[in-house]
Amino acid sequence: PRRPNTNRLSLGLPPGLTARESGAFAPPELITRLAGQGPVHRLTLLDGDPMWLVTGHDEARAALADPRLSSDRFRSSRLVAKLPEGFRALASDPERRAGNFLTQDPPGHTRYRKLLTGQFTVRRMRQLAPRVEAIVTEHLDAMIAAGPTADLVTAFALPVPSLVICELLGVDYADRHEFQERSSRLLRLDTPLDEVARTSDELRAFMLDLVRRKRVEPADDLVSGLIGADPGLTDAELVGIASLLLVAGHETTANMLALGTFALLERPDQLARLRADPALVDDAVEELLRHLSIVHLGALRLALEEVEIAGEVIPADSEVLVSVIAANRDPRRFDRPDELDVTRPRGPHLAFGHGVHQCLGQQLARVEMAVGFTELLRRLPDLRLAVPADQVPLRSDMLVYGVHSLPVTWG
Ligand code: HEM
Repeated sequence: PRRPNTNRLSLGLPPGLTARESGAFAPPELITRLAGQGPVHRLTLLDGDPMWLVTGHDEARAALADPRLSSDRFRSSRLVAKLPEGFRALASDPERRAGNFLTQDPPGHTRYRKLLTGQFTVRRMRQLAPRVEAIVTEHLDAMIAAGPTADLVTAFALPVPSLVICELLGVDYADRHEFQERSSRLLRLDTPLDEVARTSDELRAFMLDLVRRKRVEPADDLVSGLIGADPGLTDAELVGIASLLLVAGHETTANMLALGTFALLERPDQLARLRADPALVDDAVEELLRHLSIVHLGALRLALEEVEIAGEVIPADSEVLVSVIAANRDPRRFDRPDELDVTRPRGPHLAFGHGVHQCLGQQLARVEMAVGFTELLRRLPDLRLAVPADQVPLRSDMLVYGVHSLPVTWG
């Protein structure tokens, strides 16, 4: 049986789940075809094992809220046994998994989540808004000064959320080379597992340095706040929390900014509506989140017991992939689901997930996107692509979809 030695989250996934055969903004054809046949599907992984795919919106929402579907795939000895030996060691090492609450279940997850909610306060997010504005302005100033062409990813979409999450955590932005390239390696679907393990250890070592400094010299940042809120948190836990936030906090928003801009440039009617009425930006952000669904593989879960979804019986110890992109294009939930419509009434999209793991950073991400799109469009009234649209390199090879670069021009 074929078992490609790749990123643990994509182990044995059929490539059709991420391939973009129908252009940058259409879901993978396999997803569209299956979604048209029903809400739940049995797929076969490359090693021959079965996996279930949930594509219906209501079913996806229910699955994400179902405590029988675990986020901790290491609870399955069958799945652990499939991992190569070196990686298995990492997977089962509590020190190296500590604090990574994205892959933990309640009650362990609940404890971290409460601690973090206490730090992601409305007050701290409000404090951040003027900083986000200043960071956006600085980057647009620099990009325009160096223009009239740029790669929007390196000049704007990546540095803005990177700098914001660094300030939030207390990471020195000058060290960005220490984490940007590493987190990108962790999110590549084809990174060999031994390299995933090595890279995640390197990121942890980088973070350990930060945690040790914050213990000695606390400041007004999130890591210091966590240390103050729960002195019992170990270094390993703080390292895990901070690493998760660093990776989740910059890759996602960066790709929404870049892919979102690409989508708007490709839909001049929608772009014109938004330019004519900047107050539409919050609606436009929600619609772009739904339409683009950048967490394009979706959320992977493990059935702890037998679960029935829409009449389909999923046996205990099965992997279940909840397809956010399919759920967000479900015609039973959204009118004209494949159309980008910035005036669409806000609906309950699943771009930030649902249930106990629903995105912790969503308010911050919304502020970054609203400010980012508003200022980008205001400062550059004639922004356009600098290459034909079909030459923009797509991130179908990554866990978080988007564009690798976006050559733009103006003036
Ligand atoms: C969880 C999407 C921005 C931190 C999630 C999940 C999704 C998601 C789909 C759920 C995963 C699951 O259920 O397995 C996004 C998108 C973003 C974004 C589309 C940008 C537009 C951010 C930002 C941060 C962040 C800016 C940090 C500041 C997290 C964390 C979790 C998470 C910590 C795990 C929550 C938990 O397990 O309880 N995100 N995210 N995200 N996100 Fe985001």
